[in-house]
Amino acid sequence: MNNDYDSLWVNARILSLAPQAAFEIIDDAGLVVREGRIVWLGLMKDIPQAMRQQVKQEISVEGRLMTPGFVDCHTHLVYAGSREEEFQRRIQGESYQAILQAGGGIHATVRDTRAASFHELLQLCEKRARCMHLEGVTTLEIKSGYGLDLETEKKQLILARKLGDILPLTIKTSYLGAHVLPKEFRDVQTYLDFMCQEVLPILVHEDLVDAVDGFCDELAFSCEAIEVLFSCAKQHGLPVKLHTHQLSASQGIQLALKYNALSVDHLEFAEEKDLIALAKSKTMPVLLPGASYFLQQREKPPLDLLRQYNVSMAIASDCNPGTSPLISPLSLLSLACVQYALTVEEALRGFTYNGACALGIEKDYGSIEVGKMADFVLWDCHSPGELCSTLGGNPCYQVVKHGKVSHVK
Ligand code: NIG
Ligand code: FE
Repeated sequence: MNNDYDSLWVNARILSLAPQAAFEIIDDAGLVVREGRIVWLGLMKDIPQAMRQQVKQEISVEGRLMTPGFVDCHTHLVYAGSREEEFQRRIQGESYQAILQAGGGIHATVRDTRAASFHELLQLCEKRARCMHLEGVTTLEIKSGYGLDLETEKKQLILARKLGDILPLTIKTSYLGAHVLPKEFRDVQTYLDFMCQEVLPILVHEDLVDAVDGFCDELAFSCEAIEVLFSCAKQHGLPVKLHTHQLSASQGIQLALKYNALSVDHLEFAEEKDLIALAKSKTMPVLLPGASYFLQQREKPPLDLLRQYNVSMAIASDCNPGTSPLISPLSLLSLACVQYALTVEEALRGFTYNGACALGIEKDYGSIEVGKMADFVLWDCHSPGELCSTLGGNPCYQVVKHGKVSHVK
């Protein structure tokens, strides 16, 4: 007898979150994995007997809820230092903008991240990535942007790649040199030249970058500056994405669409014309409720318009020390529902398939479907709503990455 298949997972209640499928649990379901991919999925009564006889290992999940692994498509996970002192000042009423302009904010984390050794940073970010994985994350995007100089940007991106080697996670990296103008540069043009001519070519040569990101805001970079960076990214064949409309309205979304961006992120100040343009594109809007929660921001992304124009949306943690010190994926689901009034379905689709779209990897990740990688999570809970309606407590029973149970603790 041939053992052609690696594993058969039986007695599951599967919420596939496949884009075309209804938001419904399939009871008495199972799936077969071969070489890390799902090769069969369906009701147990329908499994071909010949296939069942050829699996090496049959695993009962004892009626647990099975969802796809979470895809966190926007994080700044690799950083050193803490901004808790700023946090307290902001709670007393000082604005994020004023703190940044006075040389704190992103600049503070740049100082701390530059000063941290490779080993110190590794310990910090590995711990964060473990926490995320233990609450169901199997794919993570990680940005640079707290180095700004070549050495530290490189250090951040090497660490991001390393996390993918030491933990059961798929990692996608983004170069965020255009986070803020570093202190040692007087003018934007000189910094743009530095990014485009000195930093990016080296990072690309060392295969450290999967996409190029920027922060488009009055406090950070103008659309004109971002356009220079985006055209440089295109010359390297890299996709782009953009932090935009977080603190003010701009032409950032329109610019990102001109460059077929993978995603536009934040969107608290997006307007109707932006949504109309987004609806005609493949660019994924990414909502970051953690940032508006910690910033106590009144403005919210225009959910009504997103729905009216039938635009899909992703959600992400934006994990960073300043605006979103959020290292709990399940808390993110709750924030998305409570802060932004997403439905449970929107939140879960946003943190799986739509997150994968925001990274351009939806053919392989983001839903439980035949042909996709076998990344899924088994939960000790009855309904998907339980994943979004609780703060604290972790009902995750097991995370499966590429068909293998991960034993991260
Ligand atoms: O996504 N908006 C810009 N960047 C981050 C915040 C970075 C920071 O404050 O350290 C964000 O919110
Ligand atoms: Fe961000």
